[in-house]
Amino acid sequence: MKVKNILITGGAGYIGSHVTETLINLKKYKIFIIDNLSRGHKRLINKKAFFIKADMKNTNILKKIIIQNNIDVIIHLAGYANVAESQKKKRTYYNNNIIGTLNLLKACKNSKVKNFLFSSSCSVYGNTVKGVNERCKINPVSYYAYTKYKCEQLIKNYSKKYKFKYIILRYFNVAGASNSGKIGEIGNKDSRLIKNLSIQYFKPNPKINIFGNNYNTKDGTCVRDFMHVSDIADIHKKCVLNEKISSNIFNCGYGKGYSVLEICQIFKKLKNNFKIIYHNRRPGDVGHIYADVNKFKKALNWKPKYNNIRKILLSSIKWERKLHS
Ligand SMILES: NC(=O)c1ccc[n+]([C@@H]2O[C@H](COP(=O)([O-])OP(=O)(O)OC[C@H]3O[C@@H](n4cnc5c(N)ncnc54)[C@H](O)[C@@H]3O)[C@@H](O)[C@H]2O)c1
Repeated sequence: MKVKNILITGGAGYIGSHVTETLINLKKYKIFIIDNLSRGHKRLINKKAFFIKADMKNTNILKKIIIQNNIDVIIHLAGYANVAESQKKKRTYYNNNIIGTLNLLKACKNSKVKNFLFSSSCSVYGNTVKGVNERCKINPVSYYAYTKYKCEQLIKNYSKKYKFKYIILRYFNVAGASNSGKIGEIGNKDSRLIKNLSIQYFKPNPKINIFGNNYNTKDGTCVRDFMHVSDIADIHKKCVLNEKISSNIFNCGYGKGYSVLEICQIFKKLKNNFKIIYHNRRPGDVGHIYADVNKFKKALNWKPKYNNIRKILLSSIKWERKLHS
């Protein structure tokens, strides 16, 4: 299939803007972005993309955009993504993430859409001990994770109904910023460790909150698999370029878990006067998770370019400096 027109939902957000930049740089596709700017930012919208301010709750607008622009690939990233918030605002997360995705799928009826890529999350696995592969049991602990799992199921069902291929990408923890210096993560996101450390880097009395130090992990703090956002964007590019790819689910991580405390210790070498404040565990957080990424590497012959935690931290700090200047 020759891909021409790509629709990226959530393209004004952190990951969506990186996926857009990577695909635009190929100079092969027309990129359309849908975002309601509820969590996205105008400055992250790529000037070479066609931006439509729209909400995933409006099926009619989605349908019009897909049909009128002959969209052949959808990359669906629009959604809310805060675990703690999802526990408190279940209805909001249900409407935005699940109904939003359902509307988008319904809008594919009688369209030219042939591929549908979805940003799922490692949170669908719940607590794990070793590296998780895509065959591991699904066990969503938080409501956010539940919405992602429900969306996966909807996508699988609609792919049969409307005859498109799907790629479900289960991202682990995404961090860092593009080398272009034009885009990165914006906002005060308490739940995102590396973003938060980068914010603290510029404070006179930096401190970091650690939620839970009694998990069953090497030092009691949560273990996560952090992936540079440019590698995540590159994976999307690989999926779009590979015309023979079949419907599939892939983990997107580096296959190595770092504890929150380990990351803080690496950060301490960059900024030594910062304090750690321990708090109770947050509801919905899992203790230990990192990816088994063999399936993806094999299927797409993919190699990471940025798998170095210190470099990820530095890349995030560099972007934060830009936001401050
Ligand atoms: N950041 C991570 O570490 C991570 C990990 C796993 C999965 N994900 C998933 O990746 C996707 C992108 O995450 P992100 O970190 O870039 O988040 P983000 O909040 O920066 O981007 C999401 C974008 O979606 C838009 N959006 C939300 N609801 C919408 C709606 N109803 N209609 C139109 N636009 C809407 C927001 O305005 C925002 O621009 C999310 O679906 C998230 O669940 C992210």
